Amino acid sequence: MNATADEARRLSVAPMMDWTDRHCRAFHRAFTSQTLLYTEMVTTGAVLHGDRERLLGFDPVEQPVALQLGGSDPDDLAASARIGAELGYAEINLNVGCPSDRVQSGRFGACLMREPQLVADCMAAMGEAVDVPVTVKCRIGVDDQEPADALFDLVDRCAGAGVTTFVVHARKAWLKGLSPKENRDIPPLDYGLVRRLKAERPELTIVINGGIAGLAQAEGFLIPDETGPALDGVMLGRSAYHEPALLGQADRRIYGEATGDIDPFEAIDRYRSYVAARLAEGVHLAAMTRHILGAMHGRPGARAFRRILTVDSIKPGAGLDVIDRAVEAVREAESRREAA
Ligand SMILES: Cc1cc2nc3c(=O)[nH]c(=O)nc-3n(C[C@H](O)[C@H](O)[C@H](O)COP(=O)(O)O)c2cc1C
Repeated sequence: MNATADEARRLSVAPMMDWTDRHCRAFHRAFTSQTLLYTEMVTTGAVLHGDRERLLGFDPVEQPVALQLGGSDPDDLAASARIGAELGYAEINLNVGCPSDRVQSGRFGACLMREPQLVADCMAAMGEAVDVPVTVKCRIGVDDQEPADALFDLVDRCAGAGVTTFVVHARKAWLKGLSPKENRDIPPLDYGLVRRLKAERPELTIVINGGIAGLAQAEGFLIPDETGPALDGVMLGRSAYHEPALLGQADRRIYGEATGDIDPFEAIDRYRSYVAARLAEGVHLAAMTRHILGAMHGRPGARAFRRILTVDSIKPGAGLDVIDRAVEAVREAESRREAA
């Protein structure tokens, strides 16, 4: 039996467009059985009118997986949430944090920080539609909003609509003048405000996100400090994607399981059978290997590993032997170093 989203959310891997697709999630799952994994954002238009298998299909090995939706129409969100829950997603999350122009013109993502009652109405509709948790991922404000006011207002209205879990990317989004990428780095982080939210709303489940480099920093948020109480969970985005091997320690360090850590060799070995099954279905190797380029980060041979995967995975008919050769390059570099 898989863990529920609520049991899993002490650690999660963030929703990331073009990155956390089903192959990426299957690879992350090879490192950790517990961590909650998120899909990329899928808009309600895509859920309701698009190719559902392509957009929403996933392999049961990925569970627990949360579906992130983008939208701002309560009925469309309710219908999309229902579809997601029927497909087996363990949680349905609403994106109130993405700042891209495309998203702003659709009146969803971070600009919804300005429409907290609409977000609450959306969440109420989603919550009525499904039995799994419905959650919000938000910023601490946009543009000239006062973060303490904007964040608490959004959270309180949503809590009034029955939402109990909030993932807070602890920085504002500046909707004019910054690219989405800059909006993930330039507005300053305010972790203290997220601790304050937990202090003042202790009954809510508060997950912190933004700029968290690895498990040591994550563990720090799961205990009290001088700025406030322990938070309920930590969401990692770029650090987990670029150095997925850190997830190999998560079951032990974050969930206290008495299991051994999983190193990248073991994770890739597990992922291999997933890759074999997808290759047989006609998926290109490169679509799956692109997510493992960071797996050997910091090890001798990591560059050769990346090069073999990027160059050889795109060749016609590329198969599992490409992964095997890339792994072998790391093993050889490691034994050369040991011999030296
Ligand atoms: C390539 C990329 C795509 C992203 N796509 C989404 C998305 O679809 N939905 C969302 O809520 N946030 C998205 N984000 C933001 C992340 O979920 C996260 O909030 C942000 O990267 C900060 O966390 P980090 O510093 O741990 O990466 C994306 C981030 C990146 C790097």
